[in-house]
Amino acid sequence: MKIQSKIKDYQVELIDDVLSKRDAVFSNLKYDNLFYFVDGNVSRIYKDKLSSFIDKDFHYVIKALETNKKFDKLSDFYKILIDEGFTRNDVLVTIGGGILQDISGFIASTLYRGVKWVFLPTTLLSQADSCIGSKTSINFKDSKNLIGSFYPPNKIFIDVSFCDTLTPEYFNSGLGEIIKFHFLSDAKKYDLLKEYLSSQDLRKDDLFKEIIWSTLKIKKSYFEQDEFDTGKRNLLNYGHCFGHALESASNFEICHGEAVIVGMGFANLLSLKRGVLKKGKYLEFEEILKRYYPKFDISKIKVDDILYYLKHDKKRVGKNLTMILAGDIGKHYKNNDIKKEEIVDTFGEFVQYYKKIV
Ligand SMILES: NC(=O)c1ccc[n+]([C@@H]2O[C@H](COP(=O)([O-])OP(=O)(O)OC[C@H]3O[C@@H](n4cnc5c(N)ncnc54)[C@H](O)[C@@H]3O)[C@@H](O)[C@H]2O)c1
Repeated sequence: MKIQSKIKDYQVELIDDVLSKRDAVFSNLKYDNLFYFVDGNVSRIYKDKLSSFIDKDFHYVIKALETNKKFDKLSDFYKILIDEGFTRNDVLVTIGGGILQDISGFIASTLYRGVKWVFLPTTLLSQADSCIGSKTSINFKDSKNLIGSFYPPNKIFIDVSFCDTLTPEYFNSGLGEIIKFHFLSDAKKYDLLKEYLSSQDLRKDDLFKEIIWSTLKIKKSYFEQDEFDTGKRNLLNYGHCFGHALESASNFEICHGEAVIVGMGFANLLSLKRGVLKKGKYLEFEEILKRYYPKFDISKIKVDDILYYLKHDKKRVGKNLTMILAGDIGKHYKNNDIKKEEIVDTFGEFVQYYKKIV
């Protein structure tokens, strides 16, 4: 798949057994040396295959922790590359999930004002969603993703077999974004989602690669004309307004995509109460979402904390709160006029419901 970007066009490829295909990965790239950043768990689980893939090149293992994505921590990573002699003719290669992607992407965009970067995503979320779209995000003090740039990799290679070793939480986290994108698409893609989700083994299903590819195509259709997120791309925040607030209010007890699943449930309930989503559709969407709600005691979340984080949402406009509401499949819109009282009321109802079903 070719992605058009204001920064540079780039390509995404599905590939089997990528760690045995070093030549294919680096063909067509001109470079002197390769420098690798590798996720800690991936480094441990795929040790043997990685050592033949990386061979004698420099590699550095980074744990996928939000604290490693902090602004203060970045100087360590620049230092490592500079001390090891990284030049503008070299390539940074990242093997890991969204955390390693954000660290590497920001560094690749700023080191010597931009260097070549290849990404092998290893989580479902990074394969089906974050690997394209050019965003890099860094945490600042206690706030997530406050600092960032737009800088896509030169090439992305997706090997879905990496997902075999993900924990159920991180698999579901990627699934949350897959569901979101298909809710934001059309009837045909929504049917594909339902067929995929009916599988007994989602990681081994024949449709697994197809659903990842379909998710990337939907994302591409949203951001190619709005790469810098000033219009249509904002709709991809469906499930994220409440989701981000919940992630922060729970002190990151639940992972990102799982919070997005809960966030979509909350946005749908608010849409129902506002009369923009019909009851039948609400129940149909809920039937899908509730199967993946994380086991989590939502009653310990304080509505004041949710309100605080909604108020500090990057996407908020005006004096009220902002949320992406749902009318139907592919019929979403940004509402900047959500009142505090509506959140309090919907949250009370949502908590009672969540406690009963999870
Ligand atoms: N830049 C973007 O566009 C964008 C978009 C969405 C999310 N994000 C960011 O991505 C991060 C979340 O990323 P994520 O969900 O991909 O996960 P992650 O990078 O946080 O990794 C999750 C866990 O899975 C482990 N892991 C990674 N690959 C594995 C594999 N193949 N087998 C076993 N374990 C593996 C990691 O070590 C870690 O413990 C957040 O920081 C979020 O803010 C960025």
